[in-house]
Amino acid sequence: MEPSPLIYMDNAATSYPKPADCLNRALLRYLKLGASPGRGGYDLAQEAEEAVSEIRNRLRHFFGAAPDWPLCFAANATDALNTLIQGMTEPGDHVVSTRLEHNSVLRPLNHLRENGRITFDLARFDTDGFVDPSEIRALIQSKTRLVILNHASNVLGTVQPVAAIGRICRDAGISLVIDVSQSAGVIPVAMKDWGVSALAFTGHKSLMGPSGIGGLVIRPDIAIRPIRFGGTGIDSANPFHTKEFPYRLEAGTLNLLGILGLGESLSFLEEQEAGGFRALEMALTRQLIDGFSEIDGVTLYAARSLENHIPLLSCNVNGIAASDAAAVLDGDFNIAVRAGLHCAPLVHESLGTASGGAIRFSLGVFNQLSDIEAAVHAMSIIAGSA
Ligand code: ALA
Repeated sequence: MEPSPLIYMDNAATSYPKPADCLNRALLRYLKLGASPGRGGYDLAQEAEEAVSEIRNRLRHFFGAAPDWPLCFAANATDALNTLIQGMTEPGDHVVSTRLEHNSVLRPLNHLRENGRITFDLARFDTDGFVDPSEIRALIQSKTRLVILNHASNVLGTVQPVAAIGRICRDAGISLVIDVSQSAGVIPVAMKDWGVSALAFTGHKSLMGPSGIGGLVIRPDIAIRPIRFGGTGIDSANPFHTKEFPYRLEAGTLNLLGILGLGESLSFLEEQEAGGFRALEMALTRQLIDGFSEIDGVTLYAARSLENHIPLLSCNVNGIAASDAAAVLDGDFNIAVRAGLHCAPLVHESLGTASGGAIRFSLGVFNQLSDIEAAVHAMSIIAGSA
């Protein structure tokens, strides 16, 4: 018997499959252009630098940044968040964040606090999965340097009120940093309009690019120190790392293949957008929620409404460990989901699911109605066996 085709519902971990044409085009461009960008005066190196610069411009536009705001590449969002959190804080600073955060924010904050460098407070979220901006305001104190939060939660899928938080930060004269790992490519990001000082992104999730490429965008007036030092291709006689952007926050040779891949995937997103593919993902998410709601013994988290949501749903089957349910989904139904704590332990602590976490279904561009039907069928069998 032929194995059933994989039903992939783990797009919040990484989008799969990647558009093959994008990867092929990126590879062809890399084969042609693959000199070290900015590291030589010869034509090929210049051409590589121009290609990188063009993709920086497109990304800046995509994130709603001003044309002169530095865009610095990094390996992924975690890398970019470490640069922002460590580079923007000074000894004695206070930071406000939330209990919705991923370990890519929580762990840098915890390490800085353990080293006696900063203190921080975390805002709660309500039962629908949203942080109240007034709680952020209440946590800001005289030593607060920055507020940092997820734009969209990787566990609950809820999109946070960034514009309202931006107004609070502006009034308090402090920086706002957002992590758009789960939202970029799914919903618009308007960092300038929202009063965002810096954002971190990754290329391999809903931006549909390859893994190993991400970055940050930062307002040029924001004070930030590099946390890594090395070659930049400019100012080589200087014994210290250059202050010039974007090189200030980039050390070593860039991931040119990843950057070219990201450029191609931006074009893919633009083409797909015309077909309204994100609206389709949300319609499928609604069907998934409706289907699961009818199964006795399935608990859904933060799924009352899909307003301000990305296409992601976490749930549990009463009496069955999330990891066991995911193993059955995989083994018996060939459905790929992520179970457990999703690198966001405080979300699960607040939900009361800290021991085993939850089962997360996250949809992507290539999901179809038949995938939803298969998932609802599989979950009804699993719940029926509890
Ligand atoms: N942060 C990614 C996830 O939520 C890996 O699965």
